[in-house]
Amino acid sequence: MIPNELIDRILDKTDVVELIAAYLPLKKSGQNFKACCPFHEEKTPSFMVSPAKQIYHCFGCGAGGNAIGFLMNYEKMDFIESVRMLAEKAGLTLPQLSKGVSEKNSFAEALYGANDSACKFYQENLTGRRGGEAYGYFVKRGITERTAKLFRLGFAENFWQGLIEHLKKQGLSPDVLKKAGLILQNEKTGNWYDRFRNRIMFPIFDQRARILGFGARAMDESLPKYLNSPETYVYKKGTELYGLNFSKEAIRKQDYVIMVEGYFDFILLYQNEIRNVVATLGTALTTEQIGKLKRFTRNVIMVYDADKAGEAATLRGMDLLIAEEMNVRIAILPKGADPDSFVRRESKAGVVKVLKESYDLFDYKMSVLLAKFKAGDARGKARIVDGMLPTLSKIKNAVLKSAYLKKLSEALEVDEESIRAELKKVKPDFSRAFSGEVREGHRRIESNLAEVALLALALESGRFAEKIKNGLGFEPFKSEAIVDILKKIIELHRDSKKVTAAHLMSCFADSANGEIISEAASLAHTIDDRDKALEDCFRHIRKHTLTETLNNIRFKIKDAERSCDFAKVNKLVVEYNELLKGERALGLNNAQRGS
Ligand code: CTP
Ligand code: MN
Repeated sequence: MIPNELIDRILDKTDVVELIAAYLPLKKSGQNFKACCPFHEEKTPSFMVSPAKQIYHCFGCGAGGNAIGFLMNYEKMDFIESVRMLAEKAGLTLPQLSKGVSEKNSFAEALYGANDSACKFYQENLTGRRGGEAYGYFVKRGITERTAKLFRLGFAENFWQGLIEHLKKQGLSPDVLKKAGLILQNEKTGNWYDRFRNRIMFPIFDQRARILGFGARAMDESLPKYLNSPETYVYKKGTELYGLNFSKEAIRKQDYVIMVEGYFDFILLYQNEIRNVVATLGTALTTEQIGKLKRFTRNVIMVYDADKAGEAATLRGMDLLIAEEMNVRIAILPKGADPDSFVRRESKAGVVKVLKESYDLFDYKMSVLLAKFKAGDARGKARIVDGMLPTLSKIKNAVLKSAYLKKLSEALEVDEESIRAELKKVKPDFSRAFSGEVREGHRRIESNLAEVALLALALESGRFAEKIKNGLGFEPFKSEAIVDILKKIIELHRDSKKVTAAHLMSCFADSANGEIISEAASLAHTIDDRDKALEDCFRHIRKHTLTETLNNIRFKIKDAERSCDFAKVNKLVVEYNELLKGERALGLNNAQRGS
């Protein structure tokens, strides 16, 4: 949408060092600047910012990118937002958004605006002359004035037209208020009336602290306990996590998140200085919510209500978290407690203790199953295995999965083979296929160092990019991303466009590509003799490919021998020897040979 030329100009006018220095204390280190990486926990700095290359790169976790990438990763802004912010700083104006987009934006803005005005009104009511009962309710729940202000808690009075009358005076149209879910229309009379009456109000924020909707609790036992905003253009259930706008920095810093169910759980923990928390608001956890968390941490401790509903929600949420490759632990509160009541009774120290004693996902699920079924008899064992396998099947890490299978077999005294046989029967879960895109957080990219080195050379000069294409070709590359980037470099050179790491990064929407580019760019200075390095890398990659092919043929030979297909064996042996000859000719004679 934004022309590439303009992005290039914005990057030219931006200094990545100056940008990052506004967020992190940068120290000069040779040609570069360094700091402790904001994207992973570390004590000695491995996060580098290069003024020459206009990029940042972390040697610890692999995070890296240009100025745009930094804003996207640090501020969690999207691409357009980041470009827009840099353009503003640089004094450049972006072209007007297309009509459709700007209309949609202003519609969303109108709804945020309506919610914000409503929130102000509810806040005023709380401290106003009829706010006594609501105010008293918050006091009774242990909420301080400061906390109430921070979370913008409020009170909807017991009137049918309180909000609508107030906001009409401010010039807001009933149409917008209706679309924001704040008012309803009586079908017979056509009169408008407030949706929320005689309830305490919790605004629900998005990550940028805009108000998406409200949760409204009755102050007594009347039902429903909570009345919530309907889905609107800006509020989709199961996409946001309550409180993330307040807690994201703490989550990132502590590198784990405490997941709770309710508003009060979140708010009371936060007030008691436990800040790395989010609340799911009692609904089932979704992949989209997990995707949002993943940007800040991979580690979750679930602390749900210690009742039947809480247990069921824990078990469901746990499986989804595992499927999304999060590390899960479960903290258990005394029977009947929830984080809100628990922290009020036991204070921060009590919660810290419970977190410390949290259970591994296996031990937790096992304890639930052991309470239900008898591990002593065969039928009980079978049911426990049945209960355990859907969870274990979702673990992606093979080593971890295998360790758990072993543990299960030992705990039940059932042999591992039969458990593995049962595991094979568990149907794959296709839910991920329908769950939409989940952005990857920072992840060390496992790519062949020789391939990265070639990319580093191509970044240095277009001559090397051409040599790679013609000399080695793209076929032997393991990393598709590196091939894409190399092709882009060649294309940019052909169009005599500028090829710097920082400019190149903005050609790709995928932030993983940015990380590879930053890794390569940071490697470049370590290469002395570039022509020799090129040849070394070619040789290394060719050798690697050949070794793989040879191993593959050896495997096929064994297979053919086992099935007594000797014609095939002979054919494969011939093929193998031909390749070996070629290998010697190439001077690749020290290829690794397994059994
Ligand atoms: N919830 C809801 N509608 C309900 C009940 C619950 O939306 N009828 C959501 C609310 O977001 C609530 C969360 O689920 O915060 C957890 O439910 P619960 O534990 O019952 O609520 P608490 O917030 O703990 O409320 P309280 O402590 O006042 O009972
Ligand atoms: Mn509760």
